[in-house]
Amino acid sequence: MPSVARAPLIVGSGIAGLYVALRCQEEGLRPVVITKSTIEESNTRYAQGGIAAAVGPDDSPRLHERDTIRAGDGLVDVGAARLLAEEAPLRIADLVRFGVPFDTVHGQVALGREAAHSRDRILHAGGDATGLQIEETLKRRVLDAGVQIRERSSLRRLVPKADGHLTAVIGRADGGAADELDPSCVVLATGGAGALYRESSNPSIATGEGVAIAARAGALICDMEFIQFHPTAFYRPGAPRFLITEAIRGEGAVIRNAEGHRFLPQFHPDAELAPRDVVARAIHNELVRSGDPCVFLDATALPRHRLFARFPTVCRTLAGYALDPSRDRIPVTPVAHYMIGGVASDHDGRSTVPGLLVCGEVAATGVHGANRLASNSLLEGLVFGERVVRQLLHPVAGAPAAPGRQETVAWSRGAGDVGSAEDSRAIAERLWVDVGITRDARGLARAQRAFTALGRRLEPRDERTPPSVLANAALVAALVTRAASLRTESRGAHYRADYPRRAGAWRLHLGLRLRS
Ligand code: SIN
Repeated sequence: MPSVARAPLIVGSGIAGLYVALRCQEEGLRPVVITKSTIEESNTRYAQGGIAAAVGPDDSPRLHERDTIRAGDGLVDVGAARLLAEEAPLRIADLVRFGVPFDTVHGQVALGREAAHSRDRILHAGGDATGLQIEETLKRRVLDAGVQIRERSSLRRLVPKADGHLTAVIGRADGGAADELDPSCVVLATGGAGALYRESSNPSIATGEGVAIAARAGALICDMEFIQFHPTAFYRPGAPRFLITEAIRGEGAVIRNAEGHRFLPQFHPDAELAPRDVVARAIHNELVRSGDPCVFLDATALPRHRLFARFPTVCRTLAGYALDPSRDRIPVTPVAHYMIGGVASDHDGRSTVPGLLVCGEVAATGVHGANRLASNSLLEGLVFGERVVRQLLHPVAGAPAAPGRQETVAWSRGAGDVGSAEDSRAIAERLWVDVGITRDARGLARAQRAFTALGRRLEPRDERTPPSVLANAALVAALVTRAASLRTESRGAHYRADYPRRAGAWRLHLGLRLRS
């Protein structure tokens, strides 16, 4: 039996989910939030760099918009980029109102620089603990406001109903009986899929389930070939990769190979501050050339007090490995970081499925084009989250614009096998090797065969049985691979060794739908 009548259901508790929850509560909508781990566990928590907004005296939303469009390599939805840049200062004001303690210098908000930004416009809090500060502040406000939160509860399935609403099937991590909710609307804010890759900056919960569930409910999925790789995560065999924020390069740190040579200037005039895809690929090429497992981030020319004041999280974590960045070069390697694509969405969060709104990393608004500008991701959660709230308050019919090209992905019922940790490792390895920083037709075909075979084994036998986490992972991996195989060019975060140039005919978004 439905247990909640006509309240919005928000799925996910990162910046987008918590912001939407808080704003809904302020507007009297009394939402229910479900989150598959605890309220505070999300990608947001680990975001070091910060949040971009044109609030500096020498900056303007137009410049922020222009940088976003440039980084996006010909595919940015210009309307979405304008909204992002124009509404950014308002959303920062919301965060200040909620109590986020942004760092200041002489009473003015401190602004940092990151790759491909033409101005200092990155706000940060707690130095490099921006995501943590935002997550903790929003969490406190959501709890104080009495928002209904269900932790360790995950969305398993969305069932479209004839009246244009969705039934949400919710499972519990403790294995308790699944139940069904009958919300006024479902807001997916489930984040990305970086954790599916062997090398990743994401927490283990970032497995792209929102995309899989929306796709099964009939949603159009867009831009999945664009997985953004971050150039610098800490490398130590057997140790977890943790991000070494790009802001350190913004402060002047450089990248060197094992011989101490600074190789990035030969790839791009902006060297270490070139767009992220360029830097990640240059490092990848250097690692392939040298056979080394890592390169080195050299911040030793920066004043020690500045490093420790500005990047306390990074310095503290490195100290655990007996490294001091003012003295030691930091071993780094690229990792999967951000899912640019996701559930196709218009500027107000509407997907192609009635009753399903999306925001944050799970949404594909086109705002990032083929390559996201640094520190636009926390921002996107707020800007498009606010637009989702307005859509909930004053619903207007609409849907995302049709992408330039639409294809289907065959995905049928399977044997309903539960799968194993070995399957999960196989997905991670295959994605990293064949659908990683550099791709080609042969590797993509191999990956496609592997994911299709996994799907046949892991998909439930009947449509009433909710798919497992692994079945969802196999589906998301298959969607990324299919999109990457179809796009026979290189653009932004998607690089094909067999099609190394941009192709004019591919200046379009690619949408995928499941065909069973
Ligand atoms: C970073 O701190 O380098 C990551 C920021 C981002 O992904 O936007």
